[in-house]
Amino acid sequence: MVEIASGAVPSPNIWNAPQLYEIENRAADPDGTLESAMRAIRPWDGATVLDLGCGTGYHLPAFARDAARVVGVEPHAGLAAAARRRVRGLPNVAVRVGAAQALPLPDASVDVVHVRWAYFFGPGCEPGLAELDRVVRRGGAIFVIDNDATRSTFGGWFRRSLPSYDPGAVERFWSRRGFSREPLMIRWSFQSRDDLAAVLRIEFPAELAAACLREHPGLEVDYAVNLWWRCP
Ligand SMILES: C[S@@+](CC[C@H](N)C(=O)[O-])C[C@H]1O[C@@H](n2cnc3c(N)ncnc32)[C@H](O)[C@@H]1O
Repeated sequence: MVEIASGAVPSPNIWNAPQLYEIENRAADPDGTLESAMRAIRPWDGATVLDLGCGTGYHLPAFARDAARVVGVEPHAGLAAAARRRVRGLPNVAVRVGAAQALPLPDASVDVVHVRWAYFFGPGCEPGLAELDRVVRRGGAIFVIDNDATRSTFGGWFRRSLPSYDPGAVERFWSRRGFSREPLMIRWSFQSRDDLAAVLRIEFPAELAAACLREHPGLEVDYAVNLWWRCP
């Protein structure tokens, strides 16, 4: 049985199918829209970056190119091990097993936090936010990337999968905590319909995945996201 740090939010897409999640990551945001938006707010050249909920560490090498130091934190020990394998040979990257609610990091030790589709989904993530307040240095930045269910093809699919999701409540949650919202449009761009089908099946129940595939031609999917950010 694989070790999973206490407080982890079940993430069946990557926990059960890390190879398919890799295909999803490769398809997502080929234009680098998210990276450009974050860099425009707070670049990380020479900084210490925390990638929280880093999964298999897909984003670690890109941060390592310009950051002085990168730490990936991931509650699922198997995924953390995969992340370590990915960054073998990158001396400025470390990966720790841990969860957002109890970060294995000292006070005021991080400049830039990147959280992509992990734990910080709105109401309920207050313990993680308290930990970020503890570890992020003044002058740093916190970036949280999550779905925008109000628009785009992917947003429509997401709403169909979670009819009780309340985008207004999520937005109120972040703005009350001093986060700004940058609405962004990214895209999925797949190599084949088989890849799109496989990724839809790890993201949605089988029937919905089949309906999305039937209704949506081609290899591209427009995908609205929110970049929530705050500079402590
Ligand atoms: C959808 S995956 C995204 C992985 C990675 N951010 C990426 O973009 O490739 C969500 C990740 O959040 C992790 N996670 C779940 N609960 C967490 C928590 N409480 N603190 C930090 N990470 C968490 C999961 O184990 C999983 O690796």
